[in-house]
Amino acid sequence: MWEYSDKVKEHFFNPKNAGVLVDANAVGEVGALSCGDALKLMLHIDPVTEIVLEAKFQTYGCGSAIASSSALTELVIGKTLAQARAITNRDIAEYLGGLPPEKMHCAVMGHEALQSAIADFRGEVWRPLHEEGALVCKCHGVDAGVIERAIRENGLSTVDQVSAFTQAGTGCTTCYEQIEDILARVASEVAAAQIVEISEEVVSSAATTQAPAAPRAGAVNLFTAAMRPASAPAPRPPAPVRPAAETSPLSPASPPSAGMTNLKRIRLIEETIEDLRVYLRKDGGDCELIDVDGSNVLVSLTGACVGCQMASVTVSGIQERLITKLGVPIRVIPVGRNAH
Ligand code: FES
Repeated sequence: MWEYSDKVKEHFFNPKNAGVLVDANAVGEVGALSCGDALKLMLHIDPVTEIVLEAKFQTYGCGSAIASSSALTELVIGKTLAQARAITNRDIAEYLGGLPPEKMHCAVMGHEALQSAIADFRGEVWRPLHEEGALVCKCHGVDAGVIERAIRENGLSTVDQVSAFTQAGTGCTTCYEQIEDILARVASEVAAAQIVEISEEVVSSAATTQAPAAPRAGAVNLFTAAMRPASAPAPRPPAPVRPAAETSPLSPASPPSAGMTNLKRIRLIEETIEDLRVYLRKDGGDCELIDVDGSNVLVSLTGACVGCQMASVTVSGIQERLITKLGVPIRVIPVGRNAH
């Protein structure tokens, strides 16, 4: 049984702006009745100011589809086209106080209908990304482009989440493996970008305080290979929290953990380590989260990471990453797998 917010219920039972807009000069239609979900969004836009004066919708779908469409019309009325174009599926869901994950595709449908209507006003034809990429889910006509965009824009990490946002994989399920492949590829690309940024940041800050260590033949480290001299493998103490002003604007978002519940904090730690595992595995190693005890994060290194000369540097890199993510001092301690 899905939990719906009061606002979702309100927009479902008393949808705003439902019906036909006779004066519409921009119409966007997405979905298909054969798929069980369809939405027609009609806008009346002032041609001079490009402000949306009126918006109405007709939809065929579940309560969440009706609530999402209703919310979309409320969000878009009074906005300029430029502002309307920036509305995302997350904005729609947030306006409703959240949607069950399984229903996020309703908000995605609203976002696509809006883009389609704006294109229509401009005399263009909007084409969903899935018309341009390889078809992944034949049951629902969802292609790699749509899946990748949903993953990147919403930080998705599981097939179930992708299904909730795109419907891909909710039919015969033969596309599961392809969705998993896209998730793995995007995760590795995101992790690579983050690691490069962190390494550059750390290397540049270290360059002001110490000469870089000479690289050792055959020693490759994912995080801060140039940071630690071979003769000093001990992990560094947790770095002090840097004020926001010192953080590079290009750095990935590093939400402070202040105000975060323990559960959220542990989940963030889990996700961060999961991202890094992709890289460790490529080198034949692995790292598993064993426990979180206050500011101590206990991990178990396995595979090629065990006994590796660079293990301490790897631990240090994980520590750096977690500190950046959580914004508080964290100590990563390697332990045996059965430590807890
Ligand atoms: S091909 Fe994706 S669910 Fe059938």
